[in-house]
Amino acid sequence: MKTFFLTTPLYYVNDVPHIGHAYTTIAADVLARWKRLKGEPVFFLTGTDEHGAKIDQAAQAAGKTPRAFADQVVGSFQALWKRLGITQDDFIRTTEERHARVVQGVFDFLLKKGDIYLGTYEDWYCVSCESFWTEAELADKTCPTCGRPVERLKEESYFFKLSSYEKPLLDHFEKNKDFLQPPHRASEIVNFVRSGLKDLSVSRTKVAWGVPVPSNPKHTVYVWFDALLNYISATGYAPGKKQAEGLWPADVHLVGKEIFRFHTVIWPAMLMALGLPLPKKVFAHGWWTVEGEKMSKSRGNVVDPRKMADEYGVDAFRYFLLREVPFGSDGDFSENNLLGRYNAELANGLGNLLNRTLNLLEKNHQGKIPGDPPAAHGGIVKMTNDAVERLAFHEALGDIFSLVNEGNKIIDQEAPWKTAKTDLPRAHQTLFKVVAILKEAALLLHPFMPSLTREMWKQLGEEQDLEAAGKDYLARGVLVFSPGQVVKKGPPLFPRKEVDLARPPVSLPPSPHLLP
Ligand code: MSP
Repeated sequence: MKTFFLTTPLYYVNDVPHIGHAYTTIAADVLARWKRLKGEPVFFLTGTDEHGAKIDQAAQAAGKTPRAFADQVVGSFQALWKRLGITQDDFIRTTEERHARVVQGVFDFLLKKGDIYLGTYEDWYCVSCESFWTEAELADKTCPTCGRPVERLKEESYFFKLSSYEKPLLDHFEKNKDFLQPPHRASEIVNFVRSGLKDLSVSRTKVAWGVPVPSNPKHTVYVWFDALLNYISATGYAPGKKQAEGLWPADVHLVGKEIFRFHTVIWPAMLMALGLPLPKKVFAHGWWTVEGEKMSKSRGNVVDPRKMADEYGVDAFRYFLLREVPFGSDGDFSENNLLGRYNAELANGLGNLLNRTLNLLEKNHQGKIPGDPPAAHGGIVKMTNDAVERLAFHEALGDIFSLVNEGNKIIDQEAPWKTAKTDLPRAHQTLFKVVAILKEAALLLHPFMPSLTREMWKQLGEEQDLEAAGKDYLARGVLVFSPGQVVKKGPPLFPRKEVDLARPPVSLPPSPHLLP
């Protein structure tokens, strides 16, 4: 079976991670965990983008060398991923030798092949987005992506022959309808390519912090050209050498909408130039605003994922990010909504169902499960799997929570605390049905809420390991029940929360070394 290869962008280390970085990474983690739970081999790649003017400037402002600065910030990314339960298989830094070597090899190879040539660049540049812009593309003389001031550049530069790939790219989009995802973001890219591609400047003489061009070291490689190559350098690629079987092409690159173009135009053209297959899919998710406003350091409203995890728990935070907004659409992060969903869906919906079911089982039935297991709800596996495969995480969660609500309805209607007095086996059977629902919910929710579902599983008394059971359930629709299973109520999974939202917002302290 081919290894499912998925990636996040490599994050810039100019600043500590915020909710936007956490969002892409959590989504990737859920997908990786889902696939593994089904029994598929997975390679989940993330890492950091550490070269270029943006990092250099941030390092200078912090009074550090770029390398020392990057070493420090990369630690906060790695610590956060650990805290958020991220299960990446590899973490690549663009400053690693294994990567820089590939960047140099590719540059050299394309130079010899004629896909890279020397010329002069004269136009605009946005340091914050590390993007080149023409006069016509500027928005009111500022960067059309981030709105910050741009600088005028005139320098000798190597160019990548992007213009030769217009037609091949359009053909590829035409033949591979799944490549640009979600579909509503496809036309922008198709129109952009149709309107004509210019060759891309891929080296800088005024940026020292980068990978030197091997044949002309006064140039360093353009940071995007450098960073995009991580997706193959992490697989052990070397130009001219046959690719190791099995890993490349990536199955999906998950990216934010503002970097969709880099991943769907520049990157595929680079791969075509190298004679490599293209990733099967590039999926752009939307952007979060915060309480209705654009998130920015100058506004001081940047949401700190660590504080959210401390306040609500890692699992609830992961759940909220993927439940609140369809992956692919923009959304608004409001702590009030997080609190609302926490109490309504997690505490009252799921947590309470587990609690009252186990309570009644222990009180009236010695915690035991009766008879033969009921059949699993076959439909839910298919529905949620289809949704996750389409990266419609909110839909999958919606379906799972309908099942949870179904469990609450069964208990309300059947009132097993009453029937226990008149018809004990019936009460027992009712609770059994609900235990089955809870087990299904624990398995389906595991990729989203990895630690509390384990706790749930333990309380439900199942001896077989959750992951092994997940395989049977997701691949074959079989829900395991170990003989003699006895439930064991534990502390509530989601204690109800009252949070004083009038207190100062849970945001990052302003950091002095940042770009405005
Ligand atoms: N270094 C480049 C990517 C190179 S990939 C070869 C870069 N880095 S980044 O640090 O800016 O991180 C980008 C990721 O964070 C994107 O996926 C982006 O969408 C995400 N987010 C940053 N702010 C965000 C929001 N406000 N909302 C949602 N995600 C956003 O770009």
